[in-house]
Amino acid sequence: MTYSTITGLGFYVPENVVTNQDLTQYMDTTDEWIRERTGIEQRRYFTYGKDTNASMATAASRMAIDRAGLQTSDIELIVFATITPDYFFPGSGFLMQRELGLEGIGVIDIRNQCSGFVYALSIADQFIKTGMYRNILVVGSEIQSTWINKSTAGRGVAVIFGDGAGAAVLQATEDPEHRVLSTHLHADGRYAEDLYRS
Ligand SMILES: CC(C)(COP(=O)(O)OP(=O)(O)OC[C@H]1O[C@@H](n2cnc3c(N)ncnc32)[C@H](O)[C@@H]1OP(=O)(O)O)[C@@H](O)C(=O)NCCC(=O)NCCS
Repeated sequence: MTYSTITGLGFYVPENVVTNQDLTQYMDTTDEWIRERTGIEQRRYFTYGKDTNASMATAASRMAIDRAGLQTSDIELIVFATITPDYFFPGSGFLMQRELGLEGIGVIDIRNQCSGFVYALSIADQFIKTGMYRNILVVGSEIQSTWINKSTAGRGVAVIFGDGAGAAVLQATEDPEHRVLSTHLHADGRYAEDLYRS
């Protein structure tokens, strides 16, 4: 039986560090409150003119591919999760594909909010299990700092978000000891309106 396994991970974070103390300029909060509730000490915000959703994803992907010991040309499919694409269309996955020089292979852009990367991983896992592909790039990239409400009204949400990208290379394996065990997708639309209001 063919399974999927993660053989390389990569990340990119922008240079711009925003500490909890920095956030107190915009909202009524404290370093202590944020650390106690979330464990977060700092986050990164993108630099305008340098970082884009696709450029961050490209950097993270190059690292993941390198760590997997693969060439970029070995990648057969990209599954790209984001809710903050550079454009409404084309999706950032296609922009990243161009950056990586992988024109011609399939790209699936998905937007499943916080669970996007898990959904992307699950999609890649299914394609590998069916034998369709053996090397898949799974990416999550977000620029959240442009939409979060940094005033006191939005503090419950704003303190946990930042910008950055992560990538994983999934490869086919016959080794049952080192594999993605299983993935199970669930969602609950009943809370959609609450999230919209926040
Ligand atoms: C961070 C978090 C875990 C803290 O949970 P909590 O400890 O239960 O705290 P609450 O959010 O219920 O807020 C408790 C109090 O702290 C206040 N508070 C909220 N954010 C604050 C902040 N950043 N600094 C100071 N006080 C804050 C609230 O206004 C509330 O005050 P009140 O009791 O006077 O009304 C929670 O706010 C959270 O999950 N936020 C993220 C939600 C989100 O983004 N979800 C989408 C991701 S998919």
